[in-house]
Formats: sequence, C-alpha cells, structure tokens
Amino acid sequence: MPVRIAPSMMCADLWRLAEQVHELEAAGSDLLHFDLMDGRFVPNMPMGLGVLEALRPHTGLPFDVHLMVTDNDFFIERLLPIGVQQIAVHAESAVHLDRTLSLIRSHGVAAGVALNPATPPTALHYVLDRLDFVLVMTVNPGFAGQTLVPSALRKIADTAAFLRVQGRDIPIAVDGNVSFEHIPAMVAAGADILVGGTSSVFHPGASPAANIARMRRAIAEGLAQRQEVRP
Ligand code: DX5
Ligand code: ZN
Repeated sequence: MPVRIAPSMMCADLWRLAEQVHELEAAGSDLLHFDLMDGRFVPNMPMGLGVLEALRPHTGLPFDVHLMVTDNDFFIERLLPIGVQQIAVHAESAVHLDRTLSLIRSHGVAAGVALNPATPPTALHYVLDRLDFVLVMTVNPGFAGQTLVPSALRKIADTAAFLRVQGRDIPIAVDGNVSFEHIPAMVAAGADILVGGTSSVFHPGASPAANIARMRRAIAEGLAQRQEVRP
C-alpha cells in the first residue's frame, strides 16, 4: 500500500488554520490528523471538537482523529455528525475496547487502536477483526516536539510482524517525532501512515509544501530499504 502523509494539525498555525488546510491540501497531504485531548488521559488540550466542525466544510481531505481521552464514547458520539473518516482510541483508555471499536465502525468510520510506547502489539489480538488500522505512538502522547522513544523502530517492526502473522493487512500509522531523519527507517520497518508535526510537515524554516516534498523523498528511501529486507 502507498505510504500516506497526515499533517498533525495541533502543530499548524492555529491563527490561520483554514488557509493552512488549503496549503496542506495543495501540497499533497493524504489526510489530516487531529489530536483530541481532554487534559486527563494526557495533560494537554490543544484543540477541541469545535475546531474540527469549523474546518470540515473547508476541505475534502479525510479527517483522522486521534483520541487521547478517558471517555472515548463521549467524543465518538460528537465526532460522527461532524463527518470524520477515521478514529483511533487508545488501548490504555478504552475500558470496553471491543464495544468502542464496533461503535466507530457501525457508523462507517474506520476504527483504529493507538498504542502507547509501553503497550505491546499483542494488545490488539482479540480485536483484530474490529480493526481498520493501528496507531503506534513513537513518543509518549500529549505533546509535540518530543524525542523518539528508544523502542520505537522495534515496536513498528514488531507490530508489522504481528499483523503479518495474524493475516491482517491493515495500515500502521506512526505518530511522534516522525522526522526527515527517522522516516526512512520507520517506513522500512513497516509504517504506512506518517503523522507529521514539528519534526517534518511543520518543521520551521521551510513551507509545509517543501517539507512534504522532502518527506516523499525520505519515504522513497524507506520503501527501497523495505524491499531489500523483504524482496
Ligand atoms: C503527540 C501527537 C503528535 C505530535 C507529533 O501526542 O499525537 O501528533 O504532534 O508531532 P512532532 O513531530 O512534533 O512529534
Ligand atoms: Zn496524534
């Protein structure tokens, strides 16, 4: 499957968000990643439901929502009428994970599970049939601008291997410090969706368009390495 780029909207210029969305669309973004936090599951709250609602009419790009909240179902119920295309909930916060994934899917929205750095891919085992994608956190969730956790690349590769063995060919999204330098190794390890924040899409000093073009070159490098490993 082609590797997709998902700009992390909490890292965008929030004063001119609609304009920035148009720039990202023109630059070839594949989807827009929205980090919704409640100040409890993670100690931060950069944007709320109203921002997604306000932006929805301005773009046709799919909305990819990453919930970092304690009450997932509350947010899911409110996201559905806005019109989002995929929602990931954290395995660590969803008490009734199976039911929550079914809820997302029953409305025709792609359901994903996000895994904190310490959570193994085997946490997905009994919900594989309910799952459309996996979101591997390569930093501890909540804040932009962090450094990759040491286990990140191994975790991506282990998740890819786990899904392969289980016969589930679903995309692996990676989120956190997805930098130009890390992208080749992340893609070689099996990343299919790259969430780009301050490390790439919104890297200071260049436009999102120039940064996305640079990401595409890094992706090509990673795909070549992936083929060398698995011809
Ligand atoms: C972390 C967020 C990420 C973050 C990634 O909780 O989910 O989307 O913004 O951005 P950088 O590239 O700054 O790590
Ligand atoms: Zn995220």
